[in-house]
Amino acid sequence: MKLLITGRPGAGKGTQAVNIKEYYNIPHISTGDMFRAAMKAGTKMGLLAKSYMEKGQLVPDEVTIGIVEDRLSEADCKDGFLLDGFPRNLAQAEALDKFLTKNGIKLDAVLDVNVENSVLVRRMVGRRVCKNCGATYHVEFNKPLKDGICDNCGSPLVQRPDDTEATAVNRLAVYDEQTAPLLDYYKKQGILKTVNGDQSFDKVFEDIKAVLK
Ligand code: AP5
Ligand code: MG
Repeated sequence: MKLLITGRPGAGKGTQAVNIKEYYNIPHISTGDMFRAAMKAGTKMGLLAKSYMEKGQLVPDEVTIGIVEDRLSEADCKDGFLLDGFPRNLAQAEALDKFLTKNGIKLDAVLDVNVENSVLVRRMVGRRVCKNCGATYHVEFNKPLKDGICDNCGSPLVQRPDDTEATAVNRLAVYDEQTAPLLDYYKKQGILKTVNGDQSFDKVFEDIKAVLK
């Protein structure tokens, strides 16, 4: 399975990616996670990404396209992958197509997890992530067993720095302006599959499996 997962910020891409990765046994490649890891490691790229992420803007294409191409060239992506949060504008989509064609790779599907704007700010502001393993929770919709502690590894849960209301609103605007046009781009390629992301966690995954059959 060679897949992309797209959708508005907070739509549940990362949450569903955990299920998809396990079910189809493919690596999950999230540009957001890669930038957060680089920030944590204090690399030059991490510092650069931070200055854009904290404003809810896109990290420049020169940086983003390069790290995705490097990652897709690794051996574990040979039989499949799930790209999450990339591409996010037309230039990235065209660069990805060029890379895939050059390497004889064909995408099986682009999954669009569709959720209306009104629900999303609440989802982002209430999100908590594990500092250690990255597992995602929500203070209302997906509570850990013990407040503020990860069920998987017992580490503290934290809020992403870009999960403030102001940044969330800005990220949604950037999506409408730059990422939404990609839906048409992939529809024209005949590989766009839309699922309703405003349902229970399990029902969203059931629908994803159904459209990928
Ligand atoms: P990124 O990390 O990709 O963030 P995003 O697109 O804003 O998406 P999120 O991770 O916020 O949402 P999600 O859809 O994964 O939702 P989740 O599953 O966590 O990017 C961050 C930044 O990095 C960007 O702003 C940009 O600066 C930079 N960047 C990344 N990629 C880039 C690129 N290609 N080019 C340039 N810059 C780039 O769920 C959200 C919450 O809702 C959770 O709390 C979850 O528990 C809850 N939830 C999930 N599903 C449900 C459900 N069905 N019902 C109720 N609650 C739910
Ligand atoms: Mg995510």
